[in-house]
Parts: sequence; C-alpha cells; structure tokens
Amino acid sequence: MTDVRTGEQRQGQGQRKRVFIRTYGCQMNVYDSDRMADVLRPLGYALADAPEQADLVVLNTCHIRERASEKVYSELGRLRDTKLERRAQGRDLTIAVAGCVAQAEGQEIVRRQPAVDIVVGPQAYHRLPELLAEAERKSAFRRAGKRLPGAGVLDTDFPAESKFDHLPAPAGVHAGQAFLSIQEGCDKFCTFCVVPYTRGAEYSRPVAAVLAEARHLTAAGAIEITLLGQNVNAYHGEAADGSTWSLARLIRALAEIEGVARLRYTTSHPRDFGRDIVDAIDAVPTLCDHVHLPVQSGSTRMLDAMQRLYTREQYLERIAWMKAAKREISITTDMIVGFPGETEADFAETLSLLNEVGYDAVFAFKYSPRPNTPSIKLEDAIPDEEKARRLDVLMSRQREIQITRYKKYIGTRCEVMVEGRNEPRAQYIGRTTHNKTLNFVVPPTAPQTSDRSADQNTNPKAGNYVPVIVTGSFPNSLLGELVV
Ligand code: 5AD
Ligand code: SF4
Repeated sequence: MTDVRTGEQRQGQGQRKRVFIRTYGCQMNVYDSDRMADVLRPLGYALADAPEQADLVVLNTCHIRERASEKVYSELGRLRDTKLERRAQGRDLTIAVAGCVAQAEGQEIVRRQPAVDIVVGPQAYHRLPELLAEAERKSAFRRAGKRLPGAGVLDTDFPAESKFDHLPAPAGVHAGQAFLSIQEGCDKFCTFCVVPYTRGAEYSRPVAAVLAEARHLTAAGAIEITLLGQNVNAYHGEAADGSTWSLARLIRALAEIEGVARLRYTTSHPRDFGRDIVDAIDAVPTLCDHVHLPVQSGSTRMLDAMQRLYTREQYLERIAWMKAAKREISITTDMIVGFPGETEADFAETLSLLNEVGYDAVFAFKYSPRPNTPSIKLEDAIPDEEKARRLDVLMSRQREIQITRYKKYIGTRCEVMVEGRNEPRAQYIGRTTHNKTLNFVVPPTAPQTSDRSADQNTNPKAGNYVPVIVTGSFPNSLLGELVV
C-alpha cells in the first residue's frame, strides 16, 4: 500500500483516513461524488484508489434500470466480506450507500445487507459528517457489546433547504474539465422513470451561486465546464435583481467568465428545448456544437404512453432548428425499446426516426420496469429476447449510420481538448467540440527541441487544446495526427 498522505490530510483532524468512492450511473453522480469528497476532506479523508486501502467506502448508486441497482448489492456483498476480515484484525470499514438507490430503497438496503452503516440520499450528502459521527457512535456501542435497536444510519429526507447552500467550495477539476450542477430533480414524470422519485422536484440553483462556482472552477484550472441537470433546459434560476434566467441567458453569462474555453450541458428534454438554445450556439463560440436530446421512441403512440409531452413531429421540428444552425451541431439521443405495448409498427417508426435524424451516438436501453413508476402497472409483456432483438436491430443500424457520419470528418481539422494518453497505443486521447473521441499521434517528423513552446506542441498535456487533422474513423471514434 502506497502512502499518499497529503497536506490536506495532515491539516484535517490530524488523522490519516481514506475514502473510496465508487460512482455508478450518470454525470450528475460523478459531480455528487466529487462533492462528497469535498465534504469529507475537512474531516481528514483523502481519496483512496481501491476499497482495500479505504477506511470508508461510499457507493454512489444509480436506480435508473434494474441492472444498475443489482450491481450495487453484489458490490455490497464483497464489501461485507472485507469488513468481516477487517474486524477479525481489530480494524473496521465503514460502508455508505449514497445516490438514487439509497433514496429509493432506504431501510431496505440495510435489511438486505446489514453490513451497511450509512444510507444517504442525493439531497442529504452535505450531512455526511453528522452521519459518520452517528455511525461511529453506533459502532462503538456494538464494540462495547451493547445491543442496538436498528442497524445503519439513514438520511433520505428531501430537505426543504438546498444542499448546495451547505457544501464547501468544489475541488473537482480533472485535466481542465469540471462538472457544475445547475438544476436537479424533475417534474415531468415520464411513466418509466424513477428520477422524480429519487431526485425530487425540479430545482434550479440561483444564478449567483452558479456563476460563483464557475469562477471558482476556472480559478482551480477548469477550462471546460459541463452544466448538469436532469432537465437542464428547464433551468429557471433566480438572479440578484429578482428576474428569472433561462439556460440560454445563463450560458451567455458563463461564457464571459475569463478562462472558460468550452461550455457543455446535459441533459435536455425536447419539450423544454427552445429556439433560444440554438441561437445561443450561434452566438456563443465557447458553447460546444453538441446537443443530447433524448427521444426515447419514434412513435407518437409510444411517446404518449410514456408521457413524454411531445409528438414525433414536434421532436423533428427541434431537430430541424438544429440542422438550420450556422455551425454543424452533433446530435445524440437516448432510446428505449420494448416499452409495454410497443408493436413492430411502433418500433419501425423508431428505426425510421433514426434514419431521418442521423445521430452521432445513441444510448439505447431495453425497457426495465422500475418501482413506484406509473408504467410498473402496465404489463411488461414483451419477452426479454424480443427486447434484445429490437435493441440489436437498432444498434446495428445506428452503427452503419455512425460509420458513414464519422468518415466525413477524415481530412478535416478539429480543435481537441486533450484528455490523457493511451500509453500502450502511443496515442493521445482528445475530445472534439462535437463530443467525439479523437485519438491522435504526434507525427514522427515533429521537431524535438528543448524549446518550451515547441515542447508544448509536440508533447500535449491533459487540459491543453490542440489542432488535429483527422486521418481515420471508426464507428465510435476518430483517429488523427497533431498539427505541428
Ligand atoms: N427502462 C429503460 N430505460 C430507461 N431509462 C430511464 N428509465 C428507464 C427504464 N425504466 C433510460 C432513458 C433515459 C436514460 C437516462 O435512461 O432512455 O433517457
Ligand atoms: Fe426521467 Fe422523464 Fe424527468 Fe428525464 S424528463 S428525468 S426521463 S422523468
């Protein structure tokens, strides 16, 4: 075990403690995991690279589909074994379950896995210090041989006050990139979705708080900021003068912060996706040319059953706005196959929508009935093999579409944000404004000098922006050569 004791740990409470946080699911969870690390840092916790090195393990969970939840219970089984081994050695491991499974299942988690010490919902993690203290108190009682009325410490309240008001300044900047939650929760209640039950009602952070966090992130080295929300287009944050700002207005203000080179946002709901966002893409050069606009189905009949609040035609109208924009906008989506009642004809409409839009990526899922959602009452009559077949047909067609679409980039020059290096392949990993992975090499003829600027050109670092010529394409990524 390597000793990675940091200055912060020494400052904390003089203790060397480590936390391992495993993140499942969406980017909002990635953001929340970083914020949990921020909350735990003043208590003396530094990040561990593996559960074996940690005193505290936090599983930040996802409840969106059944398989995501089940993974959590298998991991908890493994952690229980580690905890028992530790106890046999006179040490302990604190296990916390956070995120959407924690919110949805609460006490049930401790019933299924009594080794769990803390269950904390996504709106309550700013209270982790109190929950840890309580868990420690319970553990001390147990060590003293006293019986306790119930295992586990639970906090799954949806507090009236916002957790954001109680979080320390964020430290989550990795290779120039940072996430920034601007909106959380959802009031749409699509019939298949657990989000309104796990993340609660739609809430927009005030404008001043978002701008302050963005300034903090740029000061800490972020040059690319991704704004997050379950339905980011529904953003309606209160400004200092009492007015309400839309996402488009917020983006314009964020773009003026010095140091912001790229802005992204996700996820959009077609119903709230207005023309003003396309106008903002035209007007704000730092806003990336990529929109993730989940459609779920190409059949208006299914969209109705899902309560998506738009028709196929209305969705296609939004696509038409994007196709008419000055810059080429890359469009990606989410789709569900096998929703209750989906006929072959409905599925054919999804395939025809796929052909019509020309997506650059599709995240497609077999319908999975989720607890508490309205669709759980519908008979899940489409057999799993049929769902799998439809998924396969959809993804095969999409692969062909992507092969054609990605080929078109060959010979073009793209600005990429360097995300890292793939040593075995001797390639750098980059991302284009269209959100495509562009792996690239430095041409062998590049000048090798000790001159600093030349070195930056031939040895790009994570977080740099560099020009790359695309030389090859795959269904999911591009290949290129650095322009020197
Ligand atoms: N079954 C299958 N897919 C789902 N999604 C959300 N809920 C379900 C469900 N019950 C998918 C949607 C959503 C994405 C995040 O997950 O496509 O856009
Ligand atoms: Fe879920 Fe629908 Fe809200 Fe998206 S818009 S989070 S799919 S309920």
